[in-house]
Amino acid sequence: MRTLETERLILRDWKETDLNDIFICLSNPRVTIPEGSSPCESIEDCKCVLDYLILVKNNYAIELKENASVIGGIGLNEDTKGNPNARNLGFYLAEEYWNKGIMTEALITVIANAKEVTEVLSATHNNNPKTEHILTKLGFKQVDVIKNVKRKVDVEYHDEPYYILEL
Ligand SMILES: CC(C)(COP(=O)(O)OP(=O)(O)OC[C@H]1O[C@@H](n2cnc3c(N)ncnc32)[C@H](O)[C@@H]1OP(=O)(O)O)[C@@H](O)C(=O)NCCC(=O)NCCS
Repeated sequence: MRTLETERLILRDWKETDLNDIFICLSNPRVTIPEGSSPCESIEDCKCVLDYLILVKNNYAIELKENASVIGGIGLNEDTKGNPNARNLGFYLAEEYWNKGIMTEALITVIANAKEVTEVLSATHNNNPKTEHILTKLGFKQVDVIKNVKRKVDVEYHDEPYYILEL
């Protein structure tokens, strides 16, 4: 991915040296469960995730300029239905950085630079009003509700609101 810059952040490809930083973020279930994945239980688990992020090349690491730490990530993943012009958006941030406007700042720049894409899709986990607020603020429209979703991390079936941003 092309490296992007915002006032507080550098958005760039993942690197092997990001392992310790990303482990702090992805070992926290409050970060991973709403994203639909289990927390990393060990640094070795996390290395597998990081190896994948480096390989797929469609995920940004979010680096905070202030201390050069990686504090989260944004994925523009391939559309599961095969639309080459659509991306599935996923995003997460280490908990100590929540509610400082960081993800909004990062997403505005990532979306503005998603030049090859005409649609960005995002399903939010059950009861994630904060994420729905961010998506709505960025101009996403809720177009559907996916019924009876149960991912590996979920205890119960639930419905997921589905949002689209047309670029
Ligand atoms: C979702 C997440 C990335 C947000 O990051 P963040 O940097 O804290 O987000 P921001 O500070 O940019 O924006 C938060 C917005 O939500 C609002 N908000 C906070 N809590 C809220 C709530 N319970 N209900 C509704 N809105 C809420 C804030 O007021 C802010 O909006 P504003 O800028 O209009 O005031 C972060 O909380 C996270 O990693 N959560 C776990 C993973 C996740 O849910 N990922 C999304 C699934 S794809």
